[in-house]
Parts: sequence; structure tokens; C-alpha cells
Amino acid sequence: MRLEVENLEVAYGPVRALHGVSLHVDPGEMVAVIGANGAGKTTLLRAISGLLSPKAGRIRFDGREITGWPPERIVALGLVQIPERRQLFDSMSVEDNLRLGAYLRLRRGERKAVEEDLQRVFEIFPRLRERRRQMAGTLSGGEQQMLAIGRGLMARPRMLLLDEPSLGLAPLLVQELFRILRVLREQGLTLLLVEQNARQALRVADRAYVMETGRVVREGTAAKLLADPVLQAAYLGGSSALRVHPSSPTEVAVHARSSRTAASGDAAVGEHRDGGDDASG
Ligand SMILES: Nc1ncnc2c1ncn2[C@@H]1O[C@H](COP(=O)(O)OP(=O)(O)O)[C@@H](O)[C@H]1O
Ligand SMILES: [Mg+2]
Repeated sequence: MRLEVENLEVAYGPVRALHGVSLHVDPGEMVAVIGANGAGKTTLLRAISGLLSPKAGRIRFDGREITGWPPERIVALGLVQIPERRQLFDSMSVEDNLRLGAYLRLRRGERKAVEEDLQRVFEIFPRLRERRRQMAGTLSGGEQQMLAIGRGLMARPRMLLLDEPSLGLAPLLVQELFRILRVLREQGLTLLLVEQNARQALRVADRAYVMETGRVVREGTAAKLLADPVLQAAYLGGSSALRVHPSSPTEVAVHARSSRTAASGDAAVGEHRDGGDDASG
């Protein structure tokens, strides 16, 4: 159940957003697409899920060419996108929002299987079970994101497309979210993950593509990209450079005196473990 995107071109009227993007995701992989705001990441996912029609190029899933298919048909194949802005039904309960994720399956009469999946989603997200009767609109941002993912799982996806799931979440919730994505991958789900949080995405993904202004400019294993000096400077450098803190007043004074000459050199030094992945058990 491989996804293949070949030379995809998408435009919004006269504005070209994708200039010949190619990528693939193999069964069981977690692949990340990283890149700055406006790079074309959302456009790519929306084209894959059939919400935008490409001007040129091809999308194949599970051996079938799905370019130009309507979104419902693509979802029915098991290729399911979790939307960027959560698009939950605020005045419906958590549980009803989850059931809506399975509406195509309910229409096909899969009631029993849908109930089983509901229990499975509650096992992955115990918090949603506690709040099953609560209105979705009253959940915190992090809980809403969990609900959006849970709703995607209710469609029984074979591949999940996620658009910036960590956006706007507090650091602890970001850790929890990436932990859950890893669990889903270990359970055999294939994931294509779009993220601006490049460091976190590269820590959980198997491979990644880097997009700039509608093009893939780099690709490789996540480990290779994490160690790539160009990437560190452009996407990963900031936070690691800031981690070099003097710890005592004396050191502060010494540091202040020497910083004018040393700082620029420090900033170019690569990967420091930033300690953010410790408490994730
Ligand atoms: N509905 C739209 N109409 C016109 N231009 C758009 C629209 N959506 C996105 N764009 C443009 O397409 C480019 C890619 O946007 P997008 O895919 O949202 O990037 P990303 O998700 O990487 O931030 C940007 O230049 C953006 O301004
Ligand atoms: Mg986007």
C-alpha cells in the first residue's frame, strides 16, 4: 500500500504552489515533510487527499492511480487526512465526533466494527474516554487535536496524513502527541506527517523531505537530515544554539566578556541534545 507522488503541480489561479513535487511513502513507514510557512506542505496534502486537483503530475496509492478522484473515494481506499484546523463539531460530544469519523463505514453497515474501533481509540486516548460526553468545543487545544486524530482513526485508515498536528500545543502535549504517533506507527499504521517542528518530526520519522517554495529541496533518512549541516543552520540551529547557557554569575560575567568573539562560532556548532525527549515514557 505504497503512496507515490510524481511531478505534482498545483496552482491557485495564477499562483503556482507546487512545482513538480515527487515523493513516496512505503507501507509501515513514517515519513515527514518539513519546511517553512508557505512552502506548499498543506497544498501537497490537500492534493493527495483529493481536495485540490493538480494541474499536472500523478498520485498513486496501493497500485491505483487516484489523481483527480473525489475525496470520498480516496478516504474509502484508506487514505485519510487529519485537517490542519481541527474542523470538529464543537456542539457535538466527543463520542459523536468520533462516530462521525466512521460515517462511511456506518453507511456500509459496519456497526459492530465501528464500536470496537471506538473502544480502541479510547484505549489510545484515555482522556477522550473520560470526556466522551463533553462537547468538543469545550476541550483544550491539545485534547481537540487528540480528538481530530481519533476521528481520523475511526475511518480505519491504512495511511494517515497529518498536517501540523503539534501546532499551538504546549511543549508537554507536543511530547505526548509524538509519543502517540510513534505508537500508531508501531501498530502498523503508515504515516505522512507535515510539520514545521522539524527537530521533533525528524526524531520520530523514518525518512523526510524538505520543501521550499513548492519544491522538494532535500530528502533522506531522518538521521541523515538531522545531521545535515545545511538543515541544522536553516531549520534546526536556533534552539540548540540557545541551549548553551552559563550557569553561575561568574560564568555569566566571563561569558559576557568573551561572547562577542565566541558567539558566532558557537551558533554554527551542530546538534546539541536539547533534552526535550527525556520524559516521554
Ligand atoms: N487558497 C489559496 N489561494 C491562493 N494561494 C494560496 C491558497 N492557499 C495557499 N496558497 C499559497 O500557496 C503557497 C503554499 O501554501 P501552503 O500549502 O499553505 O504552505 P504551507 O502549508 O507549507 O505553509 C503559499 O504561497 C500560499 O500563499
Ligand atoms: Mg500548512
